[in-house]
Amino acid sequence: MSSTNISLTRFLIEEQRAGRISPDLRLLVEVVARACKSISIAVGKGALGGVLGDAGANGEASINVQGEAQKKLDVLSNEILLEANAWGGHLAGLASEEMDTSHPIPDKYPRGNYLLLFDPLDGSSNIDVNISVGTIFSVLRCPDGVDNPGDEHFLQPGTAQVAAGYCTYGPSTMLVLTVGHGTHAFTLDREVGSFVLTTRGMKIPEETREFAVNVSNQRFWEAPMQAYVGDMLAGKDGPRGKDFNMRWVASMVADVHRILTRGGIFSYPLDSKCAPKGGKLRLMYEANPMSFLVEQAGGAASTGRQRMLDVQPTGLHMRVPVFMGSKAEVETAVRYHAGHD
Ligand code: AHG
Ligand code: MN
Ligand code: MN
Ligand code: MN
Repeated sequence: MSSTNISLTRFLIEEQRAGRISPDLRLLVEVVARACKSISIAVGKGALGGVLGDAGANGEASINVQGEAQKKLDVLSNEILLEANAWGGHLAGLASEEMDTSHPIPDKYPRGNYLLLFDPLDGSSNIDVNISVGTIFSVLRCPDGVDNPGDEHFLQPGTAQVAAGYCTYGPSTMLVLTVGHGTHAFTLDREVGSFVLTTRGMKIPEETREFAVNVSNQRFWEAPMQAYVGDMLAGKDGPRGKDFNMRWVASMVADVHRILTRGGIFSYPLDSKCAPKGGKLRLMYEANPMSFLVEQAGGAASTGRQRMLDVQPTGLHMRVPVFMGSKAEVETAVRYHAGHD
């Protein structure tokens, strides 16, 4: 590595030296990054690693608390993150998309002051067709005086996050991280086995001509969403006065990474199918961490009617509608919703 390469370890030591993170938070991010390297190796093996396909035994699907059929890699990624974070003494408890409730750190290990939430494998419907997937994580403080955290102690708004990030397992494996002072990207140097800082201070362009939504749900959308997307599809002769492009990977990590890199707006709005549950995407370990990263990169994130990071969680697996990305475009989407309420 040339001397100009700053490793994740050096970046975190410098953040700690600057007083922006604690030693335990530095350890936490290092541990999660190391677990993501293990997940990247498992994902990269594909069919050769016996990790593709659905979890479960004897032809019985393994259904998680979300009502989804788990993939083997959902379960393996979850186990890797649980094992990596159990013994370090930096956490009081953890919660996962793949676990019904949160879990305190086992009694045989020391406990720390942080709570870790994660989506161990995001976009898992793509894993069997070799399309980018990822891991998303969010870090909260355990409330003072709470030694044995329960679900209720995780129910903090997104503004309470002290760190958030994702790892995207794509052509390259990249870790994107915020500790509240900008959003920074690290690329895995596989020969050395360490993450190297490749973008300090990601910045999302304020305007965009690119939107990401699953348009197959169009007939189920609320009126504001119909109008908002309809006007974009009308192109330069329509009310928006410009042509738009569309991308939809169906891995939130891949779509949001593109938007952090070149701008755009990601949305998973309410539709009549998911509205009874409050939306499709989960607040605590998808929408909130991604919103923290996007805001720290100069973007915006909303439910369409409220700043995402201000939402008061009512449950560990609470779902929300999501609009995030280029600030001016998110504000436009919010205006469409305001105009229709
Ligand atoms: P997960 O694989 O963790 O359950 O998340 C999948 C999510 C998100 O990654 C993606 O944006 C969205 O589901 C895709 O939804 P559709 O399949 O309905 O397009
Ligand atoms: Mn899932
Ligand atoms: Mn997900
Ligand atoms: Mn997942």
